Amino acid sequence: MTNLSLLILPGDGIGPEVMAEVRKIIDWYGTKRGVTFDVTEDLVGGCAYDKYGTPLHDDTMAKAQAVDAVLLGAVGGPKYDNLDFSVKPERGLLRLRKEMDLFANLRPAQCFDALADFSSLKKDVVAGLDIMIVRELTSGIYFGEPRGIFKEGNERVGINTQRYTESEIERVARAAFELARKRGNKVCSMEKANVMESGILWREVVTEVHAKDYADVELSHMYADAGAMQLCRWPKQFDVIVTDNLFGDLLSDAAAMLTGSLGMLPSASLGAPMASGRPKALYEPVHGSAPDIAGQGKANPIACVLSFAMALRYSFDMGAEADRVEKAVEKVLADGLRTADLLGEEGVTPVSTGEMGDAIVAALDASL
Ligand code: IPM
Ligand code: MG
Repeated sequence: MTNLSLLILPGDGIGPEVMAEVRKIIDWYGTKRGVTFDVTEDLVGGCAYDKYGTPLHDDTMAKAQAVDAVLLGAVGGPKYDNLDFSVKPERGLLRLRKEMDLFANLRPAQCFDALADFSSLKKDVVAGLDIMIVRELTSGIYFGEPRGIFKEGNERVGINTQRYTESEIERVARAAFELARKRGNKVCSMEKANVMESGILWREVVTEVHAKDYADVELSHMYADAGAMQLCRWPKQFDVIVTDNLFGDLLSDAAAMLTGSLGMLPSASLGAPMASGRPKALYEPVHGSAPDIAGQGKANPIACVLSFAMALRYSFDMGAEADRVEKAVEKVLADGLRTADLLGEEGVTPVSTGEMGDAIVAALDASL
């Protein structure tokens, strides 16, 4: 088999720790499954700023454009809080998303049975939960112009612009409908068409795309605030949620907590197909760099491990192997192993980041 190229960008905070556990799984694939990845590692975020004075070096950007898939840990930290906005760690991540044109951000929220009691919501509300948030990732208020802090008379004014073109809405809507067809065949689109013109257009375009090509999929619309409420009230009513960049950021953090911990949630950011037929792709945990626990072995590597599983599924067409990794995670959780973010229940075994990774590898071994 030809080598599959992966660019690994561990980033800041707990990023390197959780990525080290993914490396164990990548190595396992090489030795036990004969699937070798051509791995290059590089810097992004604060660590890139420390070395190069920019959160994403042009060479790193070029590498990201050339590989089959990018795997990223996390960026940011208090050390960089006072940096100029243009070189903040987050800008590195946003540049990757924008220049690779990764418009469809898939954020699944799945509740593993072993964690159903752990969620802050009642068990029957979350048990068996399996929803997918599709967040538009390259436009909207994150990138719209004009933006900036300007002087107006004697005071400053901060401006950001929510802007969506029809084609931007259409392509992410299509991604959501396509996914829904492979799952529960339902899409709920969320915006605020009651207060925002961009929301009105969003609703219109999603409705048009649906009528034209996806009438077999059940479509509903919700205002994003009501959607947030419904996500907490009865999340199992949803299958695929499609929404804009900012609402998707908020709703996906909320959805993550339904599953017990932000440390559990993976994501895939997909763009248009490359010459290989594979989509441009970047995989990363939904959680941040968690500087408060960095370097202490407390981080949960599962979100990053599951992000690698998404890479197997969406970039490398290895759905069965993705299932294998997900089952291994399910097994270690069922066995009662818990990193610090998941502690609190009786009868569980506290483990470090590294022990969790080793246990997942052992479960992979046992799956053969
Ligand atoms: C996310 C994060 C990012 C975002 C930050 C780190 C720029 O919160 O991926 O959800 O706001 O998109
Ligand atoms: Mg976020």
